[in-house]
Amino acid sequence: MSRRKISVRTLGSMAQSGERIVALTAYDYQTAKMEEAAGIHVILVGDSFQMAVLGEETTLGASMDVLVTHCRAVKKAAPTALVVGDMPFGSYQPSDEIAVGNAVRFIAEAGADAVKLEGGNPSAVARVRAIVSSGIPVMGHIGLLPQSIRAEGGYRVVRSGARGELLDQLKALEQAGAFSVVLEMMEEDLARELTEAASIPTIGIGAGRFTSGQILVVNDLLGMNGDFNPRFLKKYADLGSIIGNALEKYAEEVTEGTFPGERNVFRPRGDKS
Ligand code: KIV
Repeated sequence: MSRRKISVRTLGSMAQSGERIVALTAYDYQTAKMEEAAGIHVILVGDSFQMAVLGEETTLGASMDVLVTHCRAVKKAAPTALVVGDMPFGSYQPSDEIAVGNAVRFIAEAGADAVKLEGGNPSAVARVRAIVSSGIPVMGHIGLLPQSIRAEGGYRVVRSGARGELLDQLKALEQAGAFSVVLEMMEEDLARELTEAASIPTIGIGAGRFTSGQILVVNDLLGMNGDFNPRFLKKYADLGSIIGNALEKYAEEVTEGTFPGERNVFRPRGDKS
């Protein structure tokens, strides 16, 4: 069934009417095509690519060139989803000019519909304002900030003590023109309060049940990494085992000479044997 293009306005209307927003990461054409067919509203080409795809310990080494390339593939496969390019560490922190330049790359080179950047402190808010002023929609991101892992010293659940600070950050991002905000890894009551205070949709990851929408890293949801089992994650498939079994079977058949079989080989035209 075809659907209309999801815009940042669509998300606002959905949140207002209580229709939940379904968001998910994707990093490649095939996965994005399946997400588009499944009716996912928002596809984030996340800097989580660095961990989920490249196997790094943090997102810090993600590069603009790589994310723009992957974002372009995702956009090609997902014409109606809202495709968001995630601005990697170093691509917006130095200055408003650098931030706008890199946001423009996501839109112009990859065809993204919007960008996301982490943080609600004054400098992150200034970057959001500058990018929005250049005509590019921006999704904010507060709570646990993977790009601040060095300063924070670990990935920890954000507790209710941060309530005042997060409310201020949320309001500052709204005023800067962000069209929505990711709430990452926080107590459910805190995310609920932020969502109730927000005039823009909130998209939660590890933030409980009461945000306007949910996002997960697609590799995690599909069970590609058996060792990763945080409380907030639900695995909707065990692709790790399925793919592992298929690979073992392939190795076995090549080893014992049963692949390729008769039906996998080319013969001269007209040879029916
Ligand atoms: O990079 C990413 O995948 C993200 C999500 C966790 C929101 O920022």
